[in-house]
Amino acid sequence: MQRLDRFLSEAGVASRRELRAIIRAGRVRVNDVPASAPEQKIDETSDRVTLDGEAVGPRGPVVLLLHKPTGYVTSTDDPRDRTVMELLPPQYRGLAPVGRLDKDTSGLLLLTDDGQLAHRLISPRHAVWKIYDAVHEGEAGEADCAAFRAGLTLRDGTVCRPAYLRPLGPGRSLVAVCEGKYHQVKRMFRAVGKEVVYLKRIQFGTLTLDPSLKPGQYRKLTEEEVEQLC
Ligand code: URA
Repeated sequence: MQRLDRFLSEAGVASRRELRAIIRAGRVRVNDVPASAPEQKIDETSDRVTLDGEAVGPRGPVVLLLHKPTGYVTSTDDPRDRTVMELLPPQYRGLAPVGRLDKDTSGLLLLTDDGQLAHRLISPRHAVWKIYDAVHEGEAGEADCAAFRAGLTLRDGTVCRPAYLRPLGPGRSLVAVCEGKYHQVKRMFRAVGKEVVYLKRIQFGTLTLDPSLKPGQYRKLTEEEVEQLC
């Protein structure tokens, strides 16, 4: 048997001081009954504890897929801007974003507490493909596709790996890249004379952004999805 507040703090939900308020607000339930006090005893092997309806417990690695809205920075904390962490409930506070999306970019962002997995997914050695939907100035044509395929040289001389561009019509294209340089997609378009005005990531490796997931919403990946991603 264990105290409820100790159990929750060890699961990374919040500090024991913060938990007092969370429990008092009726947000924690034990076997579907609102918890009465931080010192309530629970049997961690059999009791089901939830916070805001989500199960809490000693957990294995967690990977979340967030539909990042624009206006949030991809960071665990920031003195000025709202961060993507503010979109998640307290029990996921220990997670970190996998790579980054710019403040004005939306779309699929992974967050995890598995450092090895995060490293693997952003390592250039593993070359995970990401697909972006870009709204841009001008109209992309065959010459642009060829330039992306050949490996663009950015304005500062950085050489990119081959990437794939699929024009969808005037001012809109899909682009697939297998690396994650700073502002990479925007700088690639700039290198062919087209400014990106809106960017959304719609695919990361084997994962696509669920159409049902609204900006700001997230879901936990299944074990199968994590395995496929690896
Ligand atoms: N490329 C960019 O330019 N911005 C992003 O946020 C992601 C890829």
